[in-house]
Amino acid sequence: MAVTTIANLREFEALARARLSPAAFAYYAGGSWDEETLRDNEAAFARRRLLPRVLVDVARVDPSTTILGQPVALPLGFAPAANQALAHGEAEVIPARVAANCRLVYCLSTFSNRSLEDVARVGRGARWFQLYVQRDRGRSEEMVRRAVAAGYGAIELTVDLPSAGYREREIREPLPGGSVLPNIGGAGTHPGAFVDLVDGSLAWTDLDWLRGLSDLPLVIKGILDPADAVRAVEHGAAGIVVSTPGGRQLDRAPAAIDALEPVVDAVAGRAEVYLDGGVRRGTDIVTAMALGARAVFIGRPYMYAMAAAGEAGILRCVEILEAELRIAMKLLGAPTIAGLTRDRVLG
Ligand SMILES: Cc1cc2nc3c(=O)[nH]c(=O)nc-3n(C[C@H](O)[C@H](O)[C@H](O)COP(=O)(O)O)c2cc1C
Repeated sequence: MAVTTIANLREFEALARARLSPAAFAYYAGGSWDEETLRDNEAAFARRRLLPRVLVDVARVDPSTTILGQPVALPLGFAPAANQALAHGEAEVIPARVAANCRLVYCLSTFSNRSLEDVARVGRGARWFQLYVQRDRGRSEEMVRRAVAAGYGAIELTVDLPSAGYREREIREPLPGGSVLPNIGGAGTHPGAFVDLVDGSLAWTDLDWLRGLSDLPLVIKGILDPADAVRAVEHGAAGIVVSTPGGRQLDRAPAAIDALEPVVDAVAGRAEVYLDGGVRRGTDIVTAMALGARAVFIGRPYMYAMAAAGEAGILRCVEILEAELRIAMKLLGAPTIAGLTRDRVLG
């Protein structure tokens, strides 16, 4: 399919829906309970207003930055998402390759359908490994060691899944069995069942254990409360992801963009703060950056793009976001990321 006429990220959703099984679409698209937070993640971006500054030389715009010290082309990464074989036979290898080629961060899920070693083989790139700590701690230790050996640059610990959220779409359209999850050495009844392996007893006191497993920087994903952000910093986190995540866990949690500023203030530069949830536009990226995010991550959009058109789809997704971001920076009077200051956002 010709992807060049796709004009924005939301268009990939309808294309993906036409290609995915109803159960796979329900799994990707769904949120929890009434999906208030899922909707609000996008709506809260739309409620913000951007204040342009004029007569600034924006003939050249540079959207590059660094994330955990690593240069990246855009303040954008691909969020960890389980079960990408539902979207494409090559699964996680495809977005990892696009991220490496485009110089973006790719974060691989614990519950990926391709092994972390397979994904590392796509070549050099900013790659992180997302960890769900399992009840069997030995298995988590083993996974961290494998991630180190395969050259991953950070461990992203997801802390918002002591239980899966109450997801009605998955009740109505259950996924069939047979999902293969090589990082945890499993093939199961249905992909969601693996959530039961995640250790609901994980607590702050366990972070020292985790940090002791490797020298990799630790990023903690799934923080909304500024007090938790401070605790994360005190426990040595190098990065924090403000995330709801994608409206799939606690419904009626605040939209990620609304939770960002208090976390940025509480962290006060002691760690990098990232955001995911509802990022669909270059204008969303400038909003998050202006409110203090170091970078944003997208989840569903790149999976829908992959389901719609494989690698070309994900490349188009990045191309659109980059074009939108560059134009938004020009129109805001911010030729660099550093120029995206808090006073550019109203409300
Ligand atoms: C189908 C699906 C699977 C996901 N699996 C994981 C996962 O394995 N680990 C994780 O930390 N987050 C997971 N997430 C959450 C994403 O990392 C991210 O927080 C969310 O998708 C961002 O919101 P967005 O989809 O609106 O961009 C998943 C999200 C989706 C939609």
